[in-house]
Amino acid sequence: MAKSDALRQPASPQVEALFDRVAPVYDELNQTLSLGLHRIWKRMAVLWSEAQTGDRVLDICCGSGDVALLLAQQVGAAGQVEGLDFSHQQLAVARQRPQPDNITWVEGNALDLPYAEGSFDAATMSYGLRNLSDIPRALAELRRVLKPDKKAAILDFHRPRSIPMQQFQRWYLHQVVVPTAERLGLRDEYAYLEPSIARFPQGPQQVRLAIAAGFSHAVHYPIAAGMMGVLVVKH
Ligand SMILES: C[S@@+](CC[C@H](N)C(=O)[O-])C[C@H]1O[C@@H](n2cnc3c(N)ncnc32)[C@H](O)[C@@H]1O
Repeated sequence: MAKSDALRQPASPQVEALFDRVAPVYDELNQTLSLGLHRIWKRMAVLWSEAQTGDRVLDICCGSGDVALLLAQQVGAAGQVEGLDFSHQQLAVARQRPQPDNITWVEGNALDLPYAEGSFDAATMSYGLRNLSDIPRALAELRRVLKPDKKAAILDFHRPRSIPMQQFQRWYLHQVVVPTAERLGLRDEYAYLEPSIARFPQGPQQVRLAIAAGFSHAVHYPIAAGMMGVLVVKH
């Protein structure tokens, strides 16, 4: 497969159906499989987006709403949060959670954001970019809706550089993640993780893609011993 084809996968309807199916157990599985650490990584993304009190901010691929809820705390009652996802079922879970009234849940496509240019003071995307069928387009859309000089933070899986950590990540996915999901009847839904991580661009390539999408500045921070990463981009 040519490099550019690897960044433009078809199959958004399949991805949407997959996240609809996992919605009822998604939060619980995240908590168990990350040993609760995903909450810390999500907080890091919110901090690195530099969202401030009173800001209007966007969480793309918000799923069941974890990061949008953190953003709501960050921007306070004077701020405004939009949580966008194309999975109806994930948004249904998000809407049921206790929340302040400055969050709006929007059913929409990350590749065609329903916002005017320069609408947001900050943005986040957590475990979304890897699942998108056209990464260059998603980054261009993210840049379009950010105000000049404003930042976004994109959290996702990453392949560690060290061989022992690579082996650990593979072991964990095979021996812990997939069997745990299998017990809930969701084997295939979680077996997709390893190939999706394998084809996801590594940090330096993410930086190059962000610059190609028009961001003036981009840095990728490996976290969790390189098994996760946060790409911080500036309009
Ligand atoms: C792994 S979940 C992450 C959810 C949440 N951000 C979190 O960190 O817990 C990925 C989410 O991306 C959404 N998604 C994938 N492709 C999308 C697209 N093209 N437009 C909008 N949402 C999309 C899925 O529906 C799913 O809810």
